[in-house]
Amino acid sequence: MRIVMIGSGYVGLVSGACFAEFGHHVTCVDKNVEKIAALTQGCIPIYEPGLAELVAANMRHCRLSFATNLAAVRKADAVFIAVGTPSRRGDGHADLSFVYAAARECAPFLSDSAVVVTKSTVPVGTGDEVEHILHEARPDIDIAVVSNPEFLREGAAIQDFKHPDRIVIGTDNPRARDVLSEIYRPLYLNAAPILFTGRRSAELIKYAANSFLAVKITFINEIADLCEKVGADVQEIARGIGLDNRIGSKFLHAGPGYGGSCLPKDTLALVKTAQDHGTALRIVETSVAVNDQRKRAMARKVCATLGGPIRGKTIAVLGLTFKPNTDDMREAPSVALITALEDLGAKVRAYDPAGMAQAKGMLPEITFCNGPYPAAEGAHALVIVTEWEEFRALDFDRLKKVMATPVLIDLKNVYQPAELSRAGFRYEGIGRPSLPTQQDATATGLLERSVA
Ligand SMILES: NC(=O)c1ccc[n+]([C@@H]2O[C@H](COP(=O)([O-])OP(=O)(O)OC[C@H]3O[C@@H](n4cnc5c(N)ncnc54)[C@H](O)[C@@H]3O)[C@@H](O)[C@H]2O)c1
Repeated sequence: MRIVMIGSGYVGLVSGACFAEFGHHVTCVDKNVEKIAALTQGCIPIYEPGLAELVAANMRHCRLSFATNLAAVRKADAVFIAVGTPSRRGDGHADLSFVYAAARECAPFLSDSAVVVTKSTVPVGTGDEVEHILHEARPDIDIAVVSNPEFLREGAAIQDFKHPDRIVIGTDNPRARDVLSEIYRPLYLNAAPILFTGRRSAELIKYAANSFLAVKITFINEIADLCEKVGADVQEIARGIGLDNRIGSKFLHAGPGYGGSCLPKDTLALVKTAQDHGTALRIVETSVAVNDQRKRAMARKVCATLGGPIRGKTIAVLGLTFKPNTDDMREAPSVALITALEDLGAKVRAYDPAGMAQAKGMLPEITFCNGPYPAAEGAHALVIVTEWEEFRALDFDRLKKVMATPVLIDLKNVYQPAELSRAGFRYEGIGRPSLPTQQDATATGLLERSVA
């Protein structure tokens, strides 16, 4: 199959490279001239494990190429639209201007038999509008418009694309069904379930899935808050409920609130769609509100742990991206937390293995450091916000030597409270009983009792 991918960002580039790996001929197109120039030279503009090797291998085999123009659409069997659909400024609806522009721009080049596939996350009914745009521009041909939402996760995008839980294809056009079946054939030979639905259902499946995940995270976060009040441990609760197959153990990790390029904007867009149709999605609405407040509330946790105002104090932040193994800073909880810490008068030093280039534009006032230990220098507290591998085995003695006070606030529950207490740290996790440091505890005999 000959495929054109319009938009070569996190989704377009990964999908394009994976389709090429399946044996298709793919042209990834982007308006961003620097991005395409870099890709043509073999430089990958985003951080995604394994992507550089995949792109290089498929370029070498002449199955993957890059362009800023849409000439390749002339010979394409399928044209995928994978451009951004950010929250529209002001009202929270999905901004569809990039999707509609892509449809208008590719229309003049489309062949008789081409299928246009929306891979971007778009509100229900968008496919009808894309179809309308294409028919207006090209009344001479009968273009099939399909919805094929993408479920990959940044940081594990290639694995997710090659081993999806399911492939959703929304169309009732038999020709489009054949083309999409052929494109995904290597995957369903591997037994990935392919689900053919109506176009509107496919569009809504994506939003329903992301909103469900957001609700699940928000639920465990609120249970974590209750755990802190009643002396229970949210990790034990998560395991205890997650072993029930009807609930499942994934997405039950309490933390500072969900962020990223998808969940915040998609939950908001779904709420707006529902409101437009006179159907309130109150559970999703509540999750959006609770999550928004939570990110900033993490700054109050820092104050509470330090026992009062933090004006003039230094706080070290480890991890800035919204999750590990990506450089994506969109809606990262670190941004709301750091802004709140700065509002309270604290000085922030931060380190992230991949996100600092993006973060620099968003957090101009903080000091960026080149590792966890430089970040911890002179800090009154160290806050882990993103659970990168390299933060999982920190040298506590080394940290203690450079910090002003040994305090660790672990917003991802990476460490065991007893371990930190033994290392002489005051430790505060999420939804877990806090322990005094060993020195304090020995004086009162507390630690022995609590560890037992
Ligand atoms: N990032 C994810 O993890 C993820 C996962 C699943 C679904 N999605 C959805 O996929 C879509 C794309 O997300 P992303 O994270 O890849 O976005 P992105 O911002 O990384 O990439 C979008 C790219 O499209 C390009 N572009 C915009 N208009 C264009 C046009 N007319 N012609 C050519 N190129 C154009 C931009 O320059 C940019 O490079 C969104 O709808 C998103 O919700 C994202």
